[in-house]
Amino acid sequence: MEKDKTHFGFKEVDRDQKASLVKEIFSGVAKKYDLMNDLMSAGVHRLWKNKMVEEINFSDSKKSYRTIDLAGGTGDIAFRISKKAHAQNVKCAIDVVDINQEMLDVGKDRAVDLNLFSDLKFTCCDGEKLCFADESFDFFTIAFGIRNFTNINAALVEAYRVLKPGGKFICLEFSKVNDYFLQKFYDVYSFNVIPKIGEIILKDRASYQYLVESIRKFPTQDEFKKMIENAGFKNASYQNLTFGAAAIHVGEK
Ligand SMILES: C[S@@+](CC[C@H](N)C(=O)[O-])C[C@H]1O[C@@H](n2cnc3c(N)ncnc32)[C@H](O)[C@@H]1O
Repeated sequence: MEKDKTHFGFKEVDRDQKASLVKEIFSGVAKKYDLMNDLMSAGVHRLWKNKMVEEINFSDSKKSYRTIDLAGGTGDIAFRISKKAHAQNVKCAIDVVDINQEMLDVGKDRAVDLNLFSDLKFTCCDGEKLCFADESFDFFTIAFGIRNFTNINAALVEAYRVLKPGGKFICLEFSKVNDYFLQKFYDVYSFNVIPKIGEIILKDRASYQYLVESIRKFPTQDEFKKMIENAGFKNASYQNLTFGAAAIHVGEK
């Protein structure tokens, strides 16, 4: 691929075009984003997100923690972290950060409904150029976001920069299914059923076609682990979820 080009799903686009194409997609789906997640995954995304939040360990109950949830969208991960902190009687301020204001607006409304608004701050900002000081956070989470970035390495370097020494990076992302027959089934399901659900519910097949294609373009579990290490993280590792349909990667600063 030429240097100034990148992929947008299976299409090749100019690098400086991709962020606005991604923005358009999430602006279009924001209001029905949560419903679509449940329909497409039959609720399984909830189990994956719960598993991800298990990686957050509030080991010192007297400490005030600070977390950034990048590509936080409508708040699903931040709400889980906030509920966990409340359950453990721990203070945790959470910055929900996303490049798309429409997604954040849905998240703000949900936070008010859930009575979690006071713990959360919503900021519209590009994850490749984070608007936070060095060494600000104890935890850095990102769920189903990083594959949409134009420059994944830049986002990983930013994650490293804004984490405190000893801070933890936790990423949940679609990944590569590790069983031949399941992969065949998953291909049929994802290339046929998911865009169809997008067409029926949102009258928008293209956004969900992009979703499926972007998953296929994302690096393998081992390639992504290497990228995390290259950004400076120690003890990088991953666990597969549902035969590798998704994976949780972690790393420490
Ligand atoms: C699939 S949604 C994930 C939302 C949420 N984390 C979840 O798991 O439900 C992907 C999000 O990534 C955001 N995003 C894409 N590129 C971004 C960037 N460069 N910086 C920050 N957010 C970005 C999108 O706006 C969108 O809200």
